[in-house]
Amino acid sequence: MRLDVVSIFPDYLAPLDLSLIGKARRDGLLDLKVHDLRDFTHDRHRTVDDSPYGGGAGMVMKPEPWSEALASVAADVDARPTLIVPGPGGTPFTQAMARDLAKQDHLVFACGRYEGIDERVYEAAAEAYDVRIVSLGDYVLNGGEVAVLAIVEAVARLLPGVIGNADSLVEESHEDGLLEYPVYTKPPVWDGRAVPDVLLSGDHGKIAAWRHQQRLERTAARRPDLLHASGSVAVGDLTDGS
Ligand code: ADE
Repeated sequence: MRLDVVSIFPDYLAPLDLSLIGKARRDGLLDLKVHDLRDFTHDRHRTVDDSPYGGGAGMVMKPEPWSEALASVAADVDARPTLIVPGPGGTPFTQAMARDLAKQDHLVFACGRYEGIDERVYEAAAEAYDVRIVSLGDYVLNGGEVAVLAIVEAVARLLPGVIGNADSLVEESHEDGLLEYPVYTKPPVWDGRAVPDVLLSGDHGKIAAWRHQQRLERTAARRPDLLHASGSVAVGDLTDGS
């Protein structure tokens, strides 16, 4: 998969050299490049922002550097890349969206800062890109970079070969609408706290039933919205601990 990230803070994306994403890049599974938006300016101050028409607080990102940057990134590609612009006004990012993005050949990320990017950039970009405005959650970050780190990690780990043990992708929170069950490792008693007996029983049927029940209870306690959204869980399921 090819990934391009455009930002005025390229160093913010340095963690994409680490851990499994860094390894995937070195292994040739991810072709990821970070571009400095200021390289697409032509004035002495490398200006990327200006005051908003109509007044108001803060600054707006100028269209010209964005237009040049996005043209440059899409210059040598045949198919329409997906352009992801993180922002608090976007569609909520979900595991389903991560799965969908993982099927694309080429993702381009535009990291906005200040009050946002001139709206005409989105209109113009739609000629060459499938444009998606994506929000990490209902809170405001200072810019898109942190969101890009999260989205790239969530997408890249779904690509074949990025995670060593593909089984670990199956039983995860959000893969089937329920949160994950609790996990334990040695020692069997730590700090006076014992690992639940069922996990030491060797009875795989019982272990699977216990884990499913834990997932239901956790989801009901922490994310009741998920249970209601899936509509697949009767309240009685939550009280049946067998
Ligand atoms: N940029 C600023 N706030 C954001 C958010 N909540 N999600 C994604 N990008 C953002």
